[in-house]
This record gives sequence, structure tokens and C-alpha cells, in this order.
Amino acid sequence: MNNNNIVRFGVSIENNLLGRFDSFIQQKGYINRSEALRDLIREALVSGEESKPDSEAVGTLTFIYSHDTREISDRLNELQHSYYNSIISATHIHLDKHMCMEVLLLRGKTASIKEISDRILAVKDIKFGKLVVTPLLNL
Ligand code: NI
Repeated sequence: MNNNNIVRFGVSIENNLLGRFDSFIQQKGYINRSEALRDLIREALVSGEESKPDSEAVGTLTFIYSHDTREISDRLNELQHSYYNSIISATHIHLDKHMCMEVLLLRGKTASIKEISDRILAVKDIKFGKLVVTPLLNL
């Protein structure tokens, strides 16, 4: 953080709301209100940006499946090759004799990251999947 850029401002807030905020940030381990407030502001800005299809973003897509279904590996491979421009990295972990976990790192427009995720998670027999998108903002 650039300290020359710091601005102090006053906030009016109900007493009991501030009390709840203080116990919330204490639970989270923040050392002061300012840092907690900055993080909440960043989170709000990021989630606002996430909904804009043209925003530049990075994302992680995690999904779990059983490779016992033979077609699934072929289908996933084919899909990932068709989006090679947006998939920066793909990691495959063998969880046990049957189950596999993959984590893809994605980069591109928010809309295309979501499209890739939708198509992969729609593959039959994917057991679990979750996408986390982070817009590339100057935070
Ligand atoms: Ni595996």
C-alpha cells in the first residue's frame, strides 16, 4: 500500500452495528477496523466487476470426477484443448484408485472464463465443481 495515498474519513454508524462489525473482524483476526473495511470494499468492487462480461479476469476451476467413466477423460481433454488460449495451467491429482481432481487456471474475459467453466461442469458425471473468478482490478 502506498502510504502517500492514504485518506482518512469519518463514518457514521449505529452503535450496535459497529459492535457486530468489531466482533466479526476480531473473529477474522484483523488488527484494526481500517484493514477490515479496505478488504470489504475490495470484495464489493470485485464482485461488482465480476458481473461485467468484458472485464479481464483470472479464475480457478476445481472439479472432481471418477475416471472409471471412460469417455469423461477424452471429453475433458477435447474441451480443454478447444480453449487452450484461456487455460494457463491444468493440474490433475489422482485422489484415490478412482477419483480424480483437476484444477484449471484460467485467464481472459469474465464471460469466456464462465463459458469454459459451464461447459466443463456440464460434462456428464462430474461430481463436484467450483469456479472462483477474480477480476484483474487495480486494488
Ligand atoms: Ni486421476
